[in-house]
Amino acid sequence: MDEVKRVVEASKLIEEDKTENSLRPQSLDDFIGQDKLKNNLKVFIEAAKKRNESLDHCLFYAPPGLGKTTLSHIIAKEMGGNLRITSGPVLERVGDLAAILTNFSEGDIFFIDEIHRMNHLVEESLYPVMEDFELDIIIGQGPSAKTIKLPIAHFTLIGATTRAGLLSSPLRDRFGIIEHLDFYNMKELIHIVNRSASIMNIAIDEDASEEIARRSRGTPRIVNRLLKRVRDFAEIRGGKITCDIAKEALNALEVDNAGLDKIDRLILTTLIKKFGGGPVGVDTIAIAISEESDTITDVYEPYLIQSGFITRTPRGRVATEIGYKHIGIEHPQNLQKELL
Ligand SMILES: Nc1ncnc2c1ncn2[C@@H]1O[C@H](COP(=O)(O)OP(=O)(O)OP(=O)(O)O)[C@@H](O)[C@H]1O
Ligand SMILES: [Mg+2]
Repeated sequence: MDEVKRVVEASKLIEEDKTENSLRPQSLDDFIGQDKLKNNLKVFIEAAKKRNESLDHCLFYAPPGLGKTTLSHIIAKEMGGNLRITSGPVLERVGDLAAILTNFSEGDIFFIDEIHRMNHLVEESLYPVMEDFELDIIIGQGPSAKTIKLPIAHFTLIGATTRAGLLSSPLRDRFGIIEHLDFYNMKELIHIVNRSASIMNIAIDEDASEEIARRSRGTPRIVNRLLKRVRDFAEIRGGKITCDIAKEALNALEVDNAGLDKIDRLILTTLIKKFGGGPVGVDTIAIAISEESDTITDVYEPYLIQSGFITRTPRGRVATEIGYKHIGIEHPQNLQKELL
């Protein structure tokens, strides 16, 4: 999946590492949308601070680009602790985890990205740490082996995952705060476009913000990426981002008014034109468009399903009425109605 490079890709592209930080909201008030989650967190943070305790361990699960990493930065700032960042696949051995944990100070925030990809031995050694702030270390081998308990400073673990279903229940149960982030609605996305434009110091018309928001798949990371590319067009045309410039740029990037790119549309048209709207197996679609089935299932299909263009049935993929409408073909059921 790493080699996939699309302008509407929700995962982070490598070159975006540096620029993401400048657009990251710095406080909960600055964090747009997710109101229920924000209100909960505000209460938990304030209560923990009042009791002079570290915040309960938090688990954030959401598709890529919706703000999990951003939230962990904000929590560290609001709690006044140092943020230590690692990711599940990096923690290969228990020793790696021990080296990090033993250096903690009281109130630190430990962020583990992709926590579902942690080695199971590392995961199990994390359980007593999360509960009692003690790390069990085994010294020696065979019959003379001894377990010693190493005290760890009280810290807050923040786990992030895009695949909550892959998390083991003993791990999930040890988080006190479990929150899901939703895709953002139009109003929130427009707000994010305007906020980022003002940080980037570019003028933008309201209808242009709307145009970018509509095509960004409910995802702040895509908002920011599209905005940057649109800015390039605007700079050449004289500065301000107008609706016409936004449309021209987004059309040039082949992102349509529902946020679908070329391959998304190819999948949808193939399903409708070659296979009569389905049901058809994903492997057959994959062969028809010369893509890997896994890439279709993991990269392209989720957004097509989430926005209601196709559905997944036991007999295969089916194009919906909205899907037909999007590519401008009458749905067979409606045609039948017209004939009657
Ligand atoms: N609520 C928000 N308001 C404004 N901007 C946001 C918000 N959430 C995310 N962003 C922007 O989107 C970018 C991506 O967010 P972030 O890195 O937190 O996503 P993520 O959920 O950690 O994604 P991944 O699963 O790929 O790690 C951030 O750099 C930030 O600028
Ligand atoms: Mg992240």
